[in-house]
Amino acid sequence: MLIHSDITSEPLLRVVEILNKAMTRNLVDWNAMNIATVNSVGQPSSRMVLLKKIDERGFVFYSNFKSKKGKEIDSNNLVALNFWWRELKEQIRVEGSIKKLSSKESDDYFNSRPLQSRVAAILSRQSEEIESYDKLNDEIKKLTREFENKNEEPVRPEHCGLYLVSPKTIEIWKEGDFRTHFREKFIKKDNNVWQSSFLSP
Ligand SMILES: Cc1cc2nc3c(=O)[nH]c(=O)nc-3n(C[C@H](O)[C@H](O)[C@H](O)COP(=O)(O)O)c2cc1C
Repeated sequence: MLIHSDITSEPLLRVVEILNKAMTRNLVDWNAMNIATVNSVGQPSSRMVLLKKIDERGFVFYSNFKSKKGKEIDSNNLVALNFWWRELKEQIRVEGSIKKLSSKESDDYFNSRPLQSRVAAILSRQSEEIESYDKLNDEIKKLTREFENKNEEPVRPEHCGLYLVSPKTIEIWKEGDFRTHFREKFIKKDNNVWQSSFLSP
């Protein structure tokens, strides 16, 4: 994962410190995070995704723009993220807004993926009902072979790419003995300055 050196703000530096700890300890799926979205009638839903990049702008992941989450994001751009590492006894909670990143950034990411992943993304109708997994896998194999035979690189389809979550609040939670947990909450004020306070566990 790319962690950009442009990060200067306190809560993001703290997040990077924890992510680096999880990465260097080789924790399984150390960059997995839960993202919650809310649909147009206020029903929340959540799922795991993988954090691909973090920089001063926020948290970046890759997904399908037409999936259930993609449709919910289209109607409501407010989201929440949650990370938790059992081994570190740490949790990070984020609330903020989400948008698609530029085509250039999504293209760069797409082009860095193995051919079969790119082909699977092209054929993906994420969150839609399908007839059979065998049929889908056959289609992926067939199209992968076609690209290999033509010696041609696939182009990123418009339905997938990178999302950026811009944080408005970040809470760092650390487990303590006998419920004496530590909770520090950072809120980004209108002047873009982060204000911190401590919360009761
Ligand atoms: C550990 C883990 C990592 C995942 N990473 C991603 C990811 O980076 N992008 C993604 O679109 N789905 C990822 N998924 C699948 C999602 O959890 C989910 O099934 C999919 O995005 C469809 O969600 P939706 O129907 O709510 O849109 C991951 C699942 C797990 C368990």
